[in-house]
Amino acid sequence: MTNASTTATCPVCELELVFSDEQRKTLICSNGHRFDAAKQGYFNFLTGKGTNFLEDTSPMVQARDAFQSKGHYAPLAQRLAALINEHHHSDVLEILDAGAGTGYYLAEILKASPSTHQDALALDISRYAMRRATKVPATLAMVWDVWRKLPTADASRDVVLNCFAPHNPAEFRRVLRANGLCLVVTGEPGHLQEVIEPLGMLSVAEGKQESLTEKFGSEQLRHIASENLSYTMSLDSSDLFNLAFMGPAGHHLSPDTLRDKAEALGTQEVTASFGVHIFAPSA
Ligand SMILES: C[S@@+](CC[C@H](N)C(=O)[O-])C[C@H]1O[C@@H](n2cnc3c(N)ncnc32)[C@H](O)[C@@H]1O
Ligand SMILES: [Zn+2]
Repeated sequence: MTNASTTATCPVCELELVFSDEQRKTLICSNGHRFDAAKQGYFNFLTGKGTNFLEDTSPMVQARDAFQSKGHYAPLAQRLAALINEHHHSDVLEILDAGAGTGYYLAEILKASPSTHQDALALDISRYAMRRATKVPATLAMVWDVWRKLPTADASRDVVLNCFAPHNPAEFRRVLRANGLCLVVTGEPGHLQEVIEPLGMLSVAEGKQESLTEKFGSEQLRHIASENLSYTMSLDSSDLFNLAFMGPAGHHLSPDTLRDKAEALGTQEVTASFGVHIFAPSA
């Protein structure tokens, strides 16, 4: 993003949004809808709209950041970057991350991409997640509900990324270019199996892949391939605490009880098992 234009659209009227100021603190559309950045730099498009979803809290996001910055999920980030680089050969990379969290995968993908003009939209319902994602270079971070119409134009993205977050295949299809790629990451049944019960985490639902390909297929997203990425992580008690607290169970777990449980476990060898599902627009 080198000038005032953006690739985001107005959440009210769907016209293009541009920055009205040098500091990139205000976005406006030509109908005069205006959005001011929060002081941490992200834009909250949900103001006044409310939402039914529970946002990840500040301590949950902090736990995610601490866990991810130790590189435990780096093999997944590298695989996603490699898949994009194998498929996408253009100087311009326009990507949207739906349910971006801290923007960890986005940052790694942008870092590994040879494209010189990069533009990313990071969407998440959590304000605390967007505070961090706003620090990812070339990224506009927006608080938004991915179940709603996504704030970008039809056929405007080369890649839609969706890691461990809610899916909206109809919208993913709408915003993807005809030669675009949609990458969906899920936890597979063996994922974190050694510690799910002892840490009181939620386990991965069975039969996800079938329902995913069906759901995406019915929205004109063709299933290209799915691959499994599995490896063992050596996690100490602070990693175990962060791992449990950064997930959906973080909404319910008491930090003190969790810390005691993680300390009692000590260092553990834990399975990471991801499904990486690749979709492309049907002709
Ligand atoms: C398990 S985290 C994954 C975050 C990130 N993709 C990652 O892998 O690090 C799920 C994310 O989805 C976000 N989320 C949940 N419901 C959402 C919704 N309806 N719209 C947008 N984001 C949502 C949460 O706030 C959270 O950041
Ligand atoms: Zn507008």
